Amino acid sequence: MRIAVVPGDGIGLEVVPAVLPALTLLDDRFGLDLTYETFDWGAERWLDEGVGLPPGALDLLTTDYQAILLGALGDPRIPDMAHGREILLGLRRGLDLYVNHRPFTPRDTRQTVDLFRENTQGLYVGVGGTVAQSGRTAVAIDECVYTRETVEKFVRYCLRALRDSGRERVTLVHKSNAVPHTGQLWQEIFRTELTHFAELRGAEEYVDSFCYHLVRDPSPYEGVIASNLFGDIVSDIGAALMGGLGLAASASICPETGYGLFEAVHGSAPDIAGKGVANPYATATAAALMLDHFGHSEAALALRRALTATVHSDVATPDMGGHGTTTTFMADVMERLEKDSTDGSDRSEPHA
Ligand SMILES: NC(=O)c1ccc[n+]([C@@H]2O[C@H](COP(=O)([O-])OP(=O)(O)OC[C@H]3O[C@@H](n4cnc5c(N)ncnc54)[C@H](O)[C@@H]3O)[C@@H](O)[C@H]2O)c1
Repeated sequence: MRIAVVPGDGIGLEVVPAVLPALTLLDDRFGLDLTYETFDWGAERWLDEGVGLPPGALDLLTTDYQAILLGALGDPRIPDMAHGREILLGLRRGLDLYVNHRPFTPRDTRQTVDLFRENTQGLYVGVGGTVAQSGRTAVAIDECVYTRETVEKFVRYCLRALRDSGRERVTLVHKSNAVPHTGQLWQEIFRTELTHFAELRGAEEYVDSFCYHLVRDPSPYEGVIASNLFGDIVSDIGAALMGGLGLAASASICPETGYGLFEAVHGSAPDIAGKGVANPYATATAAALMLDHFGHSEAALALRRALTATVHSDVATPDMGGHGTTTTFMADVMERLEKDSTDGSDRSEPHA
């Protein structure tokens, strides 16, 4: 496993270095053959050199690495997030990471919802412009672009993944009544692809109604398929149902190449950056998703188990109502991992 590590900005610079020693410990215990190198792509470099994703970065990533562990991007000194778009969207599109898997486990139901978000198209393609930027004549346009090829391969991948993990229900989230062109393309493809998966029961919901039902009772949902924008928004609701943004992680993958980018759902959290209190749980869970992706499910399970125990202890970070810091949280996780490896005492199934 050759991993490119990009801490990025804000709390990304705190949580990513805090999580790496746990990966090293798991490497020693499970023989993961893990190597990683850290890259300084983020706001500082953008402000110093005007460089976001350096020239040749995508070639380097595809030849020398198999995955990226990312912190977060975002800095108040760059209000238009130009560097973040170049790096994050550059990686997603440049590596064709069109599947974004954002599982979340609501604390009331303890049943994981597998949310899949299309990751490269839709309103995030950057097509559009402005005619006069301010004043009464201002016009601003962002185009939503979807291609049949991408939606088909995305939906097919999600349905296969859901079926293979024993899921029975899948919901397409859309807004085809108000956004008919792309909405109807998604519906048509979803219905057609679903006919090849007899094990799955499909449903379709307007995104507004879906959000309402999800917040009231998430238990009927097992698999959820959404476009780029809707998936982005819904996943923050998922994080809230888990107990906070500090808990939710995601995997962006290209099924054809196997390449993956693993990161927390949260951003750079400028309001708490530098205070040492950021919750590293989400980034550590992203690392667990990475281990799963490479077939190291035992190592992933050990990490999840330790994280679950720590997040319910006193050293939980303040966002979870605890008194811990990023450092004491991960120190506790490491202690549990070490104890687990010597006496195998903790065999419980983890849940966030
Ligand atoms: N993938 C990414 O890199 C990504 C995602 C979302 C936002 N952003 C960027 O991050 C910056 C800040 O965005 P925002 O404030 O809207 O969202 P945010 O996710 O950074 O923070 C939202 C709230 O959640 C809290 N929070 C987030 N992560 C936490 C953690 N690990 N531990 C404890 N509390 C946590 C923050 O303190 C804040 O109150 C912006 O520049 C935004 O564009 C980047």
